[in-house]
Amino acid sequence: MTAFLNGDHTCILVRRAGTDCATRRCHRSHVRCEILFAGGMAAQQPSSGQNEGLLSTLSKQVDALCGAYTEKMRQLHSMLDVEEDSRERTARQTAAGRALWNHVIHDPLARFLAGESQLRKLQGKMEEAAGSRETAGVMLAVRTLWFDGKIEAALQRWREGSDCSELARPQVVLLGAGMDTRAYRLKCLEGCVVFEVDLPKILAFKSALLKCAAGTDKTEEAPCPGGREEEAGAEDLEPYAARVERVAADLATEEWWDKLRQAGFNAGEDSGAPTIWVLEGLLYYLKDAEARALLRRISASCVTGTLVLADFMNEFSTHLSSELQTQFYFHSDWPEELLPTLGFFCVRVSQMGDPDAHFGLINDNPLSLFHRLRHTPRYCRLGPDGSPCRRLFLVQCSVA
Ligand SMILES: C[S@@+](CC[C@H](N)C(=O)[O-])C[C@H]1O[C@@H](n2cnc3c(N)ncnc32)[C@H](O)[C@@H]1O
Repeated sequence: MTAFLNGDHTCILVRRAGTDCATRRCHRSHVRCEILFAGGMAAQQPSSGQNEGLLSTLSKQVDALCGAYTEKMRQLHSMLDVEEDSRERTARQTAAGRALWNHVIHDPLARFLAGESQLRKLQGKMEEAAGSRETAGVMLAVRTLWFDGKIEAALQRWREGSDCSELARPQVVLLGAGMDTRAYRLKCLEGCVVFEVDLPKILAFKSALLKCAAGTDKTEEAPCPGGREEEAGAEDLEPYAARVERVAADLATEEWWDKLRQAGFNAGEDSGAPTIWVLEGLLYYLKDAEARALLRRISASCVTGTLVLADFMNEFSTHLSSELQTQFYFHSDWPEELLPTLGFFCVRVSQMGDPDAHFGLINDNPLSLFHRLRHTPRYCRLGPDGSPCRRLFLVQCSVA
């Protein structure tokens, strides 16, 4: 990780070590945000003058991202604006986060999948947070990089430990995949089969938007007034994964498992195909019994050593439901105690700012939120100032 400060020390360009070799498309001329709000990373907060410059750059960046939509994409996003519920909306919210954090997350398709309304909302939040110690979206950026890194490391371990000629195709199952484009953006997924499981509406719109981005769906397309129409580069639309299967299913019911199997998922019982399960931003949208049933289904059906990556909210975080205009349910303050009871072992729990969840993006100022949370013992439900400790745990574990 390298950080550069520009002349006036407000502009920080971060390049992740290995990014250039991890992706083949960094040279593409997609709109790059080169500004990272200083609060997300530096111990110093930006001055008000510096903030003005940052906000104006952010606004130009969002205008440019929105200018990239074709008329057909706009129509699809307008339909989603009306039709999606608060749970489904989160799929585009996270895509917006990745689109605006594209200085650290290489996701050239995110802008097409996010939609103008979500990009503008996030812009508003970043503007509100300007000048504070925490940057809007930094958690999402760190979470994305954490999952990316763990997936890459696991696949590398498997490849090194196996005779490649005999290696069954690794599988990556994204539960609650939303607008995730890992199949297209992570080079380490070459040769893998990627299953994307989400609600039918989300996957249908995702496929339609990707078709538009590829320029393969020109139906009903009209010129975009005042907008700069742009399609994704052909290489962005070509998945690294050997196969991408979209599985439309409700993860709150058992039907998802059968549908996944019908799509070709192999639990490893006969092929020995290793699997990584990615539950990113999912579990807390399920009720307690549903989340436990889902986790039990994985542990009961998959071979020993199968890897599960997930993020967990602690109880206080779920109290943010109304503030974030959504509904959170499942939570655990101690995933390392819960998961062994559900058939997992080797549970490792990280928090924002831990060495494997830092990426140079977390403010290490002792007054910053994540620093205070990490230094407040986990058994303390309240911080020294009496405020509730709201934590997001990044968890990896294996099937026992
Ligand atoms: C916060 S988004 C995360 C999306 C994606 N994993 C990412 O990080 O960008 C949550 C996703 O979970 C999906 N989801 C929530 N409840 C679900 C359910 N019962 N069945 C299937 N998908 C669900 C939503 O549709 C949404 O796409």
